[in-house]
Amino acid sequence: MDKILIEGRQPLSGEVRVSGAKNAALPLMAAAILCGGPLILNNVPRLRDLVTMASLLRHMGGRTEFENGRAELDMGTLHSPEAPYELVKTMRASALVLGPLLARCGRARVSLPGGCAIGARPIDLHLKALEAMGAVIDLDGGYVVARAPKGGLRGAHVNFDTVTVTGTENLMMAASLARGRTVISNAAREPEVTDTARALLAMGAEISGLETDELVIDGVGALRCASYQVMPDRIEAGTLIVAAALAGGRVVVKGSPHQALDAVYDKIREAGVGLKPEGEDLIVTSDGRIKSVGLVTRPYPGFPTDMQAQFMALMTVGDSAAIINETIFENRFMHVSELRRLGADITLEGHVAVVRGVRRLSGAPMMATDLRASAGLILAALAAKGQSEVSRVYHLDRGYDKLDEKLISLGARIRRAPA
Ligand code: EPZ
Repeated sequence: MDKILIEGRQPLSGEVRVSGAKNAALPLMAAAILCGGPLILNNVPRLRDLVTMASLLRHMGGRTEFENGRAELDMGTLHSPEAPYELVKTMRASALVLGPLLARCGRARVSLPGGCAIGARPIDLHLKALEAMGAVIDLDGGYVVARAPKGGLRGAHVNFDTVTVTGTENLMMAASLARGRTVISNAAREPEVTDTARALLAMGAEISGLETDELVIDGVGALRCASYQVMPDRIEAGTLIVAAALAGGRVVVKGSPHQALDAVYDKIREAGVGLKPEGEDLIVTSDGRIKSVGLVTRPYPGFPTDMQAQFMALMTVGDSAAIINETIFENRFMHVSELRRLGADITLEGHVAVVRGVRRLSGAPMMATDLRASAGLILAALAAKGQSEVSRVYHLDRGYDKLDEKLISLGARIRRAPA
C-alpha cells in the first residue's frame, strides 16, 4: 500500500492532458459482451478499475488486450456468464455486465456488489427494470441469478424512481438486443451515459433521445464490432482545475470537456478562479485567493457528486462560509474528518456541510477512505503549509490515471512512497 507525500504552497504551471473517462470506459467494456467479435476502444485510461473489468471479461471466457490507451475486447468466446464475488467486491460497477449478459446469453449469475464507503448503493432499480423486460431474477447466496424469458428480453416502458447512472446504462445495453421497443423515463443524462449510447449506435443499436431524460431503444437482432473513442474524464479534468485553483498559478488543462463540466466551471468561476476555454483546452489562472460558494450536488446537468470532495477542499480556504449539500449519496463526507486534520473548519448537519474558510491550512498525515475523497485530500494538501501525507492511495489508483504524476509535471512537490 503506497502513500503520497505533498509539500504544499507550491504554485503550479504548465499543461496537462485529461485522460479518457473511467465512468464511460467501464460501461463500454461491458458493452463488448453484446457483440460476438472485437470491440475496439481508444483513449482508455490506465487505472485499476479497468484492469478489474478486464479480469472479469476474461473470467467469462473473453479476450482482452490493452496497448497505449487502446483496448481490444473480444467476447466472441464468452462461455461463462457470471461475475464472481472476488472480482465484484473490489468494483461495484461490475453490475454493469448484468444487462449485457442477459441480452447476449439469456442468463447471468452476478454477485451483488455490496456497499462501499460512500453508501449502501443497492442495485434494486436495475433488477426491477430487467424484470419489467421479462427477466426472472432470484437472489441466491449473495448472487443475482437472472434468466431471460424464452425468446429473449422483451421491450418495456421503465420509469426509474431515482436517477441511476449505471442503472440507465445497464438497461440501455439490455434493451439494445431485446425484442421490441424499450422506453426509459427519468433516465440519467450524465455525459458518460450519452457516450455509452453513442458507442452502442456505432455497434448498430437503434437509440434515440440521447442527452434527454427519455431514451427510446428499438432492439435489433445483433450488434456488430466497432471502434470507439472514449470521452475525456470530466471528473479528472475538474480535479486538475481545482488543483490549479488551490495551489495558484497558470495551468492549461488540455482536452477538458467544457460542456460536460458546465456546472463545475460555473461554481469554480464564482469562487474567483479564472477559466478561459481555448478550443479544446482550458486555461486556469488563480492567485490562490478563493471566494466561498455554496453548492448542492445533483444528477447531470447539476453539480456532480463526484466533484463534491474536491470542491470542499477548495472551500476550506474560502473568504467566508460555504454550504455544501450532498443529495446523491448518504455517506459522502468521509473526507471531512481528514480535512479537519489540516485545520479546516467544517461542521456537519446530516447531508449538509458548512465550510468556514481558514486563512491557512497546515500539513498533516491523512488517510484516504474512497476514490474522490482521496483526491480531495491531495488537493487540500497542495494549499497547506508544510508536508502532508495521504495513506491508502490504492483508492486513488482505482479511478485516476496517475494523478500524482500529472500534478508533479505541473510543478507540485509530490512523491509516492511505500506506506
Ligand atoms: C455512478 O454510480 C458512478 N459510477 C459514480 O461514480 C457516481 O458517483 C454516480 O453514478 C452518481 O453520479 C460509475 O459510473 C461507474 P447511481 P452509480 O446509480 O450508477 C441510488 C466515482 O467516483 N440507487 O446513479 O452506482 C444510489 O444509492 C463513482 O467515479 C438506488 O437506490 O450511481 C444513489 O443514492 C462513485 N438503487 C443514487 O441512486 C439502484 O438500483 C444514484 O446512484 C441504483 C441507485
